[in-house]
Amino acid sequence: MLDLEPQRRAKFPGGTVLVYPRADAELVASDWIASAIGAAIDDRGQAVVGLATGSTPIPVYEHLVSLRTSGKLPFDFKSVITYNLDEYYPMSPTDPNSYRAFMDKHLFRRVGLAANRTHVLDGTVPEAYTQHHASDFDRWIAADGGLDLQLLGLGRNGHIGFNEPSDLTVEVALALPTRLVELHPTTRSDAIKDFGTEFDVPRRALTMGIASILAARSILVLAFGSNKADAVAESLMGTMTARMPGSLLQSVARKVTWLVDAESAAKLF
Ligand code: GLP
Repeated sequence: MLDLEPQRRAKFPGGTVLVYPRADAELVASDWIASAIGAAIDDRGQAVVGLATGSTPIPVYEHLVSLRTSGKLPFDFKSVITYNLDEYYPMSPTDPNSYRAFMDKHLFRRVGLAANRTHVLDGTVPEAYTQHHASDFDRWIAADGGLDLQLLGLGRNGHIGFNEPSDLTVEVALALPTRLVELHPTTRSDAIKDFGTEFDVPRRALTMGIASILAARSILVLAFGSNKADAVAESLMGTMTARMPGSLLQSVARKVTWLVDAESAAKLF
């Protein structure tokens, strides 16, 4: 285990917050994931891990790859099963902007994870079949024994996965399953950096549901930089509301840990 002391540690309605300089937080996150995988394998013989995309986890995956290359991981990826949070729709897995391609590039290929153990929602299923596929995804997770750990990023608008802000009641939002969704304008605008123009950014996506995420045995949220400060503060200590999906984590706060930096934590203290 890494022995890095956080600059601050505090409990909020949305979970336990550890503040680190960003580079340290990335190391702590990779160590955290490795420990959770090791513990799950010790307990049940396999680890089921929910993974995230976006720019935030890239260095964390890089560290995990280095830990494996240097022989510091106490487990083999043969005992690991992964489920990703989301995928654009429609989207081919061979498109460089697909989350399947992202995960292959940053993690799966580099740690030798077999394709039938890495599950990313399929952006090529026929439209009429999307609900069926999404429900299958939730069934696969359950059949594998549920998620041991879910890694989460946070959108600027507070989205988790692609569960976007909405006017739903908290009760309905907490029960949302994996499904096809419309992307929020802020999310689409943030994705222009990847797709080139707004026109090229998909309008829809498949996302793991709020209920599916909250069912994980533990949840690790990563949020860095001043552009996340509002979403971090509202999620951790604002009213629980579907308008700020990150705030729905308050319903399972005792199993949620947030790794943040001073910039994203600026409105917390
Ligand atoms: C995308 C992903 C989210 C991610 C978010 C934040 O929308 N679907 O899962 O958390 O972006 O992205 P970034 O880490 O680049 O700020």
